[in-house]
Amino acid sequence: MVKEVLIDCDPGIDDALALALAHGDPRLNVVGITAVGGNVPLEFTTENSLRLRDFYGMTAPVARGAGRPLVREGINAGNVHGVMGLGEVVLPETATELDPRHAVDLIIETLAAAPGEISLIATGPLTNIALAVRKEPRIVEWAAEFVIMGGAYTRGNRTPAAEFNVMADPEAAAVVFEAGWTTVMIGLDLTHQARANAEVRTRFAGLGRLESELLTPCLDFYGRFPDYRELGPAIHDACAVAYLIDPTLMDAVPARVDVETQGRYTSGMTVTDFQAPPEARNALVPTTLDQGRFWDLMTEAFGVVAKSMA
Ligand code: BDR
Ligand code: CA
Repeated sequence: MVKEVLIDCDPGIDDALALALAHGDPRLNVVGITAVGGNVPLEFTTENSLRLRDFYGMTAPVARGAGRPLVREGINAGNVHGVMGLGEVVLPETATELDPRHAVDLIIETLAAAPGEISLIATGPLTNIALAVRKEPRIVEWAAEFVIMGGAYTRGNRTPAAEFNVMADPEAAAVVFEAGWTTVMIGLDLTHQARANAEVRTRFAGLGRLESELLTPCLDFYGRFPDYRELGPAIHDACAVAYLIDPTLMDAVPARVDVETQGRYTSGMTVTDFQAPPEARNALVPTTLDQGRFWDLMTEAFGVVAKSMA
């Protein structure tokens, strides 16, 4: 069965790879892409979403969303993803128009058109999703599954306590976790098991333009930090897509997750209680990744995308 999916993202190098996985795997059909400000400002995450869509040969509508968090000043991760979000890669310009709707309306209208049939994945700060929940609370029932890349139950990356996507808009993340659906939280404890190391990267040889124009330059840039050189950079966002394709790649544990919004040192922390009673649980938290099968999935999907681009 093919799952329909709408992806809210902030490309971002690992977001770009997540989109390629979603497009290339035959078990998913991407029906919408919405951009949120995050890794880089909204104008770049929106333009990257549009250009990636056309570069990969996707047809889903792309809409622009929120450019700043609900309450706080924005932060970004340009130091990790480059000033424009894809390292030093500048994809070909596109004449494709954005969908005229705001991302929030695209999310609501897409889910409303087929209640229970379309899943939602968020791989950036949760601003668009929180606004959509507030504008139309029934999306919580309409989304078939809801998966985010965000959070951590041991240690953050933006601060010792907080992961970037949650830290970028903790108030939005709090709205989303409290909304009444089960949030599948693909956090850092899981995504740090998905490393594009040298051995993995040998498998991308032969992927034509996908490899030479995107994968290699982006991963060289993303992996340039000294502590990444051997391990390889973590491809966080693709793990959220992989979960939707095949949840058996991961062991997942039900939990209660609350987002800290007040802490002086702990804002953005996803406080995860694996011992919460069943009635208090609001999340499913994958903890282990079958790395061999994950990279098989990625490589096969990339092969499909590369072939269609040739
Ligand atoms: C998350 O933050 C961003 O920099 C990545 O794109 C990913 O979504 C990892 O903490
Ligand atoms: Ca991201």
